[in-house]
Amino acid sequence: MGPLPRKVFIVQGKRTAFGKFGGSFGGISPIDLAVYATSALLTENKINPETIDQVIFANVIPSTPDTLYAGRHLALKSGLKDTTPGIVINRLCGSGIQGMIDAARLIRTHECEAVLVAGAENMTMVPHLIYGSRFGTKYGALKTQDLLLDTLYDKHAGIPMGMTAENLATEYGVSKADADQYSYNSHMKANRAYEANLIQPEIIPVQNISRDEHLRADVSLGDMQKLKPTFKKDGGTVTAGSASGIVDGACAMVIASEEYVNKHHLKPLAEIIDGQVVGVDPTKMGIGPVPAINQLLARQKLEIKNISYFEINEAFASQVMSCQKALQIPDEKLNVWGGAVALGHPLGATGLKISLTLGRQLQHFNSEYGISSACIGGGQGIALLLKRV
Ligand SMILES: CC(C)(COP(=O)(O)OP(=O)(O)OC[C@H]1O[C@@H](n2cnc3c(N)ncnc32)[C@H](O)[C@@H]1OP(=O)(O)O)[C@@H](O)C(=O)NCCC(=O)NCCS
Repeated sequence: MGPLPRKVFIVQGKRTAFGKFGGSFGGISPIDLAVYATSALLTENKINPETIDQVIFANVIPSTPDTLYAGRHLALKSGLKDTTPGIVINRLCGSGIQGMIDAARLIRTHECEAVLVAGAENMTMVPHLIYGSRFGTKYGALKTQDLLLDTLYDKHAGIPMGMTAENLATEYGVSKADADQYSYNSHMKANRAYEANLIQPEIIPVQNISRDEHLRADVSLGDMQKLKPTFKKDGGTVTAGSASGIVDGACAMVIASEEYVNKHHLKPLAEIIDGQVVGVDPTKMGIGPVPAINQLLARQKLEIKNISYFEINEAFASQVMSCQKALQIPDEKLNVWGGAVALGHPLGATGLKISLTLGRQLQHFNSEYGISSACIGGGQGIALLLKRV
């Protein structure tokens, strides 16, 4: 997405809390999670659903059959016009940010004035599947596969996502002690942000759940250190405590042109300046944010020092720490209200969630520029530059 003259804004966003794996949202489909977020977003901001031109729905694993229809179904279930089209997009963990980039493009090219971008994932509901048996199995039992585990494993690279983080930990010299401390800090930052009421405004309670369920209020560094590595048993850094939580949740956002914002007297959250997606070595997919951010900054003639806040998805602590080292981002600028190690990573919703949080941070701290970014399985990275309005 190159810099084009027309200004594009995030009007506002809203999300559900993130329910823990097998937790409170285990029976709510991705579309319905997105409907909750969308309804609250439109109502609270007095946005007439009939003024939305298109829907983009970010989802990675279609965990219910209707998830394949999610773009269109979200439009129909949220009171948008019967004629409003909707698409489902999937750039794995980059899907939410990709949806925002696509929406900005649709607006910059004057195809749309306002786009509803939602992202949702119900990881609890992901099915087990039987492949290749459409015409029957002559003898023997049918073999099921777990679509969730299959998704978190890159068949081309031949390793699970967790091992790609271990490869980075080796390359960038991140120890288990470092990753444990980072993960503890992520929980503490999120707990402090909750105590200061900084996270609650972005959440619409669903079935009375208004707090991210993966987050541990009683987190202890000692307990974190006792956890054994999951993927690289001997000398690994990734444990259940230092990996992003597997969770269920949704986030919705309205992205609109300057003309739309003015016409409807809306006060936008942030301006979308530019975005960048790149490819990297699949065995080190977690480094994707580094070239994505560097290329984005170079095009905008900015440097790390010009960016006040970064929200880089914490797929794994050792992964985001490797990115932090490579980009030389000071601690006080990175994931300051906690990240996915504490809050969870509902794949399709994450890019929207971290961009919403970033926009709110720019407002809260009265800062000019922020970058949200995510690594992507298969070896990609995506980054988005926001500016405070
Ligand atoms: C790492 C992973 C496999 C762990 O899954 P899990 O084993 O089901 O994790 P659990 O939540 O059951 O935790 C395992 C144990 O660690 C404990 N634990 C987890 N986090 C903890 C923490 N912060 N502090 C203390 N203990 C913790 C749990 O209480 C549990 O203990 P128990 O066995 O006594 O009940 C899983 O979280 C994962 O795959 N995450 C990454 C997802 C991913 O790849 N996303 C895409 C990125 S590209």
